[in-house]
Amino acid sequence: MIFKVNISKVNSMKNIQILIIDLGSQYTLVIGRTLRELGIRSVIFSPKRASDWLRYNKPKGIILSGGSASVYEKDAPFPPERILKLALPILGICYGMQWLAYKLGGTVVSHRESKEYGKAKAFFDYKDRLFLNLNKKNTVWASHGDSVDSVPKGFKSIAWTSNNKVIAGMSHLNKKIWGVQFHPEVTQTEKGKDILLRFIENICKCKKDWKPKDVITNIQNEVKEVAVNKKSIIGFSGGVDSSILSAILSPVLKSNLLAVCIDTGGLRQGEIKEIRENAKAAKVQLKVIRAASRFQKAIGSATHSEIKRKRFKKLYGRILEEAARDFKANFIIQGSLATDIIESGAIGQADLIKSHHNVGLNLNVKELHPFRDLFKYEVRGLAEEMGLPDSISKRQPFPGPGLFIRVIGQPPKLNKLSIVRWADARVTKILKDHKLYDQISQLIIGLDCNRSVGIKGDGRAYGFSIIVRGFITVDFMTGKGYQIPRQIRCQITENITKHPKIIRVYYDETHKPPATIELE
Ligand code: XMP
Repeated sequence: MIFKVNISKVNSMKNIQILIIDLGSQYTLVIGRTLRELGIRSVIFSPKRASDWLRYNKPKGIILSGGSASVYEKDAPFPPERILKLALPILGICYGMQWLAYKLGGTVVSHRESKEYGKAKAFFDYKDRLFLNLNKKNTVWASHGDSVDSVPKGFKSIAWTSNNKVIAGMSHLNKKIWGVQFHPEVTQTEKGKDILLRFIENICKCKKDWKPKDVITNIQNEVKEVAVNKKSIIGFSGGVDSSILSAILSPVLKSNLLAVCIDTGGLRQGEIKEIRENAKAAKVQLKVIRAASRFQKAIGSATHSEIKRKRFKKLYGRILEEAARDFKANFIIQGSLATDIIESGAIGQADLIKSHHNVGLNLNVKELHPFRDLFKYEVRGLAEEMGLPDSISKRQPFPGPGLFIRVIGQPPKLNKLSIVRWADARVTKILKDHKLYDQISQLIIGLDCNRSVGIKGDGRAYGFSIIVRGFITVDFMTGKGYQIPRQIRCQITENITKHPKIIRVYYDETHKPPATIELE
């Protein structure tokens, strides 16, 4: 079944108090995390998603992130203009402030050659509500090429850097619109947290709604209420969501909880070992079900990614039901997040792009989705609260259908799976050796099954290509292709083409949109 959901019906989204619009800053996620540290949940969307979301939801305030573009660039990201008509408090940070100034009639000038980068001394108008009772002189973190030269009509300047030469803040005289040229979300800005607190508490009137301890207790109580003294299984991939959910629920359900890992044959090298280690760290009993040949048979000769996914999903559901029956379980628990539900369906009126394997399974056993209200970074926050190791809290996502959807446009037969698995392990190791792996949100290695000609030894070779895709994202809904440094690309290419069946290596740096993160 295609699970299509309208954003207005996602309860988790209804009470979100702050909308953060991501305009391409490396610090956008940090804004969300800082708000969470201040006790407030927020949601981060691209301009397009934000526009859809705002049709059905009313936050108490909007924060525009920074970004690396100039407002004058052709494809610069612009927030939806109607945010200016909603009469909601707005705080533009860095590029966000430049966009406000540009849009409302101020002037933005380029200082590309004399960029302000790093710590700067700023002077605040500490009578303004955003800086109320802070010191006049402050250390802030700046990282910008352009800046606001004159504020729009109806605004006043409220902060300055470079000996009062650069406007570092502005506020509207009677509307609730602010802009700061520096980054209050980073710790290098001494009073950054206080500034954000003034915005969310005093200006937006937000009430605290994020306490990790309470979230953990609420989830435990909710599941306890229905499932205590009954048996449950949990779909366990060893990833962030299922590992953390297991760690939260195992003290409550004890031996009545069984984590079930399905070895589909589409896992990466050494993954079962890692999954076992993560189950141990989560203190949950684990059963690994070997089902590679069943998946091979079920997916068969499918070449189209959606057909692969649907066949995968059907068998995945059936095996979970069998595992539940064997364990005499009353419930199947899944770690699906708010974003899984949205990505599987749609925000506003967007089309279904990919059907996720763990959402809308329609099982014959009751399903519980205790993380249905949470976002990935919030779940990672729960892991920190519980003191779980980095191997869990920082683990990159890996799709359920795994390497099956990394054999591009062809049936994922064993020989092809083994080539892409080999390449994945090699590239991962090289990136880890260079300490780059953790800078990437997700690494995707695909096998391009179109064959091309090459030379191996002294003879003609005819084989496949490998696609290497590093991806940087905040919300996994939009993001940027990662540019692997040239020297490391050379090392990867040299290494990977040692495989007798691999002739070429391509690097995919396409953003999402227009591409998706996965290759199919
Ligand atoms: P896309 O490719 O849609 O990916 O930009 C967004 C995120 O979702 C993951 N993904 C999946 N996860 N089953 C999953 O469990 C799937 O069928 C699936 N397809 C994509 C993808 O790896 C990325 O993190």
